Amino acid sequence: MRNNHNDGHDGHDGHNSKLQILIQPNIGLDSDVRHSVVEILNNTLANEAVLTLKTRSAHWNVSGAGFLELNILFNSQYEQLNDISDEIAERARMLGGIAIGSLQEFIKYTRVEEQPGVVPDILRLLADHEASIRFLREDARKCTEEYEDEGTFELLVSVMRLHEKMAWMLRSYIENEPVHGESQERMIIK
Ligand SMILES: [Fe+2]
Repeated sequence: MRNNHNDGHDGHDGHNSKLQILIQPNIGLDSDVRHSVVEILNNTLANEAVLTLKTRSAHWNVSGAGFLELNILFNSQYEQLNDISDEIAERARMLGGIAIGSLQEFIKYTRVEEQPGVVPDILRLLADHEASIRFLREDARKCTEEYEDEGTFELLVSVMRLHEKMAWMLRSYIENEPVHGESQERMIIK
């Protein structure tokens, strides 16, 4: 027989489901500092989520010359971006915060542009990685200079380096390609 955990009474596991004890991290960072850093982390998480989805769309919709290579490249970058989000979300929790996790919040906080109806091409993804790198550089600097949170600083720098590597791979793929003068993004046919 199952007990209803939403009725405020003790459940079958002996715990009151409404009782939540929050233990603040005692790690040498004031709560307002931790709050500000969690905001930075959540803004970063939103960027990563949007770029993850755009990379996945590129993986799904890749076609033409280089299909197989690009299919594999986009898939590996998609997986790296997923792992990055995990690390950032876990850091938000370590600082006593809540990691955002809804599409609405990702859209609200992202600084990487969402582009519904467009299959991102390499140039677009490259521009998004480069924008992410610039944001990460600035956010990492804030974490160490303003907040003296070396843990988050180190995390953001490591994430920045992963983006630098992904950007290099995308850049290398299109270097020496004929210049078409404009992005080759395709519209999704509705
Ligand atoms: Fe796939």
